Amino acid sequence: MIPFSDPFASYKYHKSEIDFAVQRVLDSGWYVLGKEVNAFEEEFASFHGENLHAVGVANGTDAIALCLRSLGLGLGDEVITPSHTAVATVAGIEQAGCSPVFADIDPVSRCIDPRSIEERIGPKTRAIMPVHIYGQPAEMHKILEIGKAHQLEVIEDCSQAHGAEIDGQKVGTFANLSAFSCYPTKNLGGTGDGGVILCRSKDFANKIKSLRQYGWNEHRESTITGFNSRLDEMQAAILRVKAKTPER
Ligand SMILES: Cc1ncc(COP(=O)(O)O)c(C=O)c1O
Repeated sequence: MIPFSDPFASYKYHKSEIDFAVQRVLDSGWYVLGKEVNAFEEEFASFHGENLHAVGVANGTDAIALCLRSLGLGLGDEVITPSHTAVATVAGIEQAGCSPVFADIDPVSRCIDPRSIEERIGPKTRAIMPVHIYGQPAEMHKILEIGKAHQLEVIEDCSQAHGAEIDGQKVGTFANLSAFSCYPTKNLGGTGDGGVILCRSKDFANKIKSLRQYGWNEHRESTITGFNSRLDEMQAAILRVKAKTPER
């Protein structure tokens, strides 16, 4: 039987480095949002290109919801997404208070069909969320054109496609905001839950950093309505190991 996924094989591949990283975190005495998360965010952003910012969060569903919330989207706002995706895409959209509107997929790529997006645009549409499914990138150039023409936000759901490229450009770098899951079965997966948001604007990164921790500013005052979606140091340290040495 071919297993659906084998996260244990991934751990075994990196065992000595992961064990070392875990011990380093345990010995540090600092377990949530610290040096490892900062380093992971920097390394993840620079893996994708220059002038990008990454924010580690608790899981990929939260990453989607936080992208939408950072844009001020919520109740009454519609987000067009493919009918064929993990239910988590829809859960993230609904967690933000938005309503998913389903577009058809292209039968070859299995990703959202840009023509179907145009057919679904209505007065309440605020965003398009393509999903790069099974490692296969969606047609980002056409989708961005549609977004621009209709003044819609575009958020990429990259949870199944870390490192995938379109003509040498990595998914997650086409839109202003992109969400990734780091669940153990993903291309870049930890040994627990984790997620990351990639964004072009430092201001947005800072806003999402505030949203992921109770809406705090640097003085720990809640200046906006926030959540708890922190990434822990252990997962960040393990993700750093796996990102540095891809499995062969
Ligand atoms: C396409 C897609 N989007 C979002 C998610 C959400 O990720 P998580 O399970 O980390 O919340 C997943 C993973 O299950 C996924 O496959």
